[in-house]
Amino acid sequence: MTDTRPLTGKVAFVTGGAQGIGAAISTRLAGDGATVVIGDLDIDRAHGIGADVVPLDVSDPASVTSAARTTVERHGHVDILVNNAGISNDVPTLDHSDEAWQRIIGVNLTGAFLASREFGRRMDPGAGIVNISSIAALTAGRPERHVAYDVSKAGVIALTRTLGVEWAPRGIRVNAVAPGYTNTQILRDVGSSNPEVLDAWRAQVPQGRLIEPAEIASVVAFLASDAASAITGQVIVADAGYTGSA
Ligand SMILES: NC(=O)c1ccc[n+]([C@@H]2O[C@H](COP(=O)([O-])OP(=O)(O)OC[C@H]3O[C@@H](n4cnc5c(N)ncnc54)[C@H](O)[C@@H]3O)[C@@H](O)[C@H]2O)c1
Repeated sequence: MTDTRPLTGKVAFVTGGAQGIGAAISTRLAGDGATVVIGDLDIDRAHGIGADVVPLDVSDPASVTSAARTTVERHGHVDILVNNAGISNDVPTLDHSDEAWQRIIGVNLTGAFLASREFGRRMDPGAGIVNISSIAALTAGRPERHVAYDVSKAGVIALTRTLGVEWAPRGIRVNAVAPGYTNTQILRDVGSSNPEVLDAWRAQVPQGRLIEPAEIASVVAFLASDAASAITGQVIVADAGYTGSA
């Protein structure tokens, strides 16, 4: 029987796919028929997802180039890149170190640029990139403080618009998803040490809940599929109403 799933025959590379939103994206894209390759610092955990795995530090240009080359050598082509790897912190700006600024910008923004360039140069018409931004690019979080994170995620939106337009003539679409507060380990850690912060977030979200990683993955799967063929350079906000109420 013919496999009619929307991503059958596609090769998808997901950065930071070993856990959280990236793991949900990897599982969803595989379920939609794609061959999924996870690039992550945490190789052992990545192997647990059931996809192919390539060691990756997105902030390291040589590592990114090697991952792109390995993916094409192993699978023949790469059709979908999801720039998901990301890190954050919670520090008042006056106490924010230079090192933390460089590290967060290096992973979240430079990493997305490097992977877009290195995977993008190996993509054919019909391929696409989905970047994971954040509502932090659109509105200051409360009560947490993470200036470098906010700036990095705003930069990811600018990267999305620039590449979406620049690469439209190449037939490559570039879009972003901006998730709201999503139920991953980082939020659960905050919740276990600071339950009142978790309560504050829930209270600010019109749907009154955290988003599940699979709900972000379904938006990524849509943007990566031909169903989104006219969409490029755009950001879809999936935040359970958070920014709508701001
Ligand atoms: N959880 C949320 O509420 C939320 C909201 C908005 C946006 N996001 C974004 O979604 C993405 C995933 O978030 P998450 O909550 O699943 O995070 P997570 O911490 O659960 O997972 C992040 C993954 O990225 C990997 N990673 C970190 N640095 C890396 C590097 N230098 N190179 C390669 N891999 C690296 C980690 O090993 C991990 O597997 C991030 O970009 C994050 O900013 C998350």
